Amino acid sequence: MEKTTDATTSTDLTPNAAAATNRPLVSEPLMLPCGVTVRNRFYKSAMNEALAGRDCAPTEAHVRLYRRWAAGGAGVLVTGNVMVDRTQLGEPGNVAVEDERDLAMLRRWAAAGTEHGAHCWMQINHPGRQSPITINRSPVAPSAGRLEGDYGRFFAEPRELTRPQIHDIVRRFATTADIAKKAGFTGVEIHAAHGYLINQFLSPLDNHRIDEYGGSLENRARFLFEIVEAVRVEVGPGFPIAVKINSSDVPIAVKAPRSADESDKTTPGGFDEDESIWVIKRLSAMGVDLIDVSGGTLEKPVIQTNSGAREDEARGVYFTDFAERLAGTIDTPIALTGGFRNAADMEKALSSGVTQMIGIARPLVVKPSLPNLIMNARWQGTVRLPWITTGVRALDQAFGGILVISWFELQMNRIGRGKSPNPRIGGLRALLFAIRQHGVGTLTPRRRKGHQ
Ligand SMILES: Cc1cc2nc3c(=O)[nH]c(=O)nc-3n(C[C@H](O)[C@H](O)[C@H](O)COP(=O)(O)O)c2cc1C
Repeated sequence: MEKTTDATTSTDLTPNAAAATNRPLVSEPLMLPCGVTVRNRFYKSAMNEALAGRDCAPTEAHVRLYRRWAAGGAGVLVTGNVMVDRTQLGEPGNVAVEDERDLAMLRRWAAAGTEHGAHCWMQINHPGRQSPITINRSPVAPSAGRLEGDYGRFFAEPRELTRPQIHDIVRRFATTADIAKKAGFTGVEIHAAHGYLINQFLSPLDNHRIDEYGGSLENRARFLFEIVEAVRVEVGPGFPIAVKINSSDVPIAVKAPRSADESDKTTPGGFDEDESIWVIKRLSAMGVDLIDVSGGTLEKPVIQTNSGAREDEARGVYFTDFAERLAGTIDTPIALTGGFRNAADMEKALSSGVTQMIGIARPLVVKPSLPNLIMNARWQGTVRLPWITTGVRALDQAFGGILVISWFELQMNRIGRGKSPNPRIGGLRALLFAIRQHGVGTLTPRRRKGHQ
């Protein structure tokens, strides 16, 4: 994409031009450290589409879905997590890219996602031990050790990675990034959040290694830094590399906890905010182009809620306190992800300087054209996420989180078949859809307790 003269640069991150012209700040272009400019501040966050075909190949449904999102106006569309090893999947329906066998389809996907000047970045991931037993009986992790607690039985005990295996995974990230670039994706995002493999290395709770990949924070972050370096060598200096990272592994600060119990669930000793800031500063110094700030747990607070729009709105924008701590300490643009539901919150976050891009996921499933609605029609409404229920309390309790994920997957599947999202579809249909698509194994938790 051409550099534009009115784009703010990575050293001037507050959009001033918009204020002068009365355009919404969210419509301002942004120049990344690598010199590439994105057309506006909407950053469609990664969502596993669960649309892969045989052998984890991308399909025509990916093409239709991303064409729809590109037409919706977002500056950057990040794909759902694409795995670097097809034997190590995080969720049913993941795409995996290890070699060029699917290059033709990847090209079609990238072309659709970059229509109308959108950027389309591939999110690259390895699940580590967060790979359900129904699809993987031999997961790997920084350290061995069966998961404790209620969810342990859904995940096989992982094998500790040897150093050559670690080097192989680093190489795989670089290979996948190279193929993404070759296929026409215009950037990559390395997934270091949500309890997957890179996050497992970062976390002192998961990483008990005594070699150069464990112990001190410098050592625990080595795996991530090696991946970033290897990817940069592969894609070259002018190609955007983003990193999605947890602000901490402890659950999100819920503004209105429903109970003392809920506000009290933390993971003492996990990867915390101070450690995250240290890692982010290093990533910034390494020339990463964007930091996508995430975190929290999926088990309770963030995206697995099925309690409806009121609670969702009460939470407001996620990780704002952390972003405030980070603001001004690095030149690298931030995409704060989670909880953006209306234009007012977006403008406030951009004008205050806590973020340079608006990371947004579920609202774009319900309203794929939300960016254009806000930028062109000055839509001032609030996207209300539905209360997803089967109508049967026991089922809701048993499958709450999966219900929500499946509901959004079902809607992405509809868009991928050329239909419109249908907010009236209920939770029971979402559950049946998930079983039909991926078998009963889909009813295991997708991510382990304690992580988003
Ligand atoms: C169906 C679904 C799939 C998701 N898959 C991913 C993923 O593959 N990678 C990722 O980093 N985050 C994933 N997420 C998390 C989102 O990127 C985002 O962080 C979260 O939904 C909060 O943003 P929101 O409030 O705008 O939805 C997923 C979320 C949903 C609802």
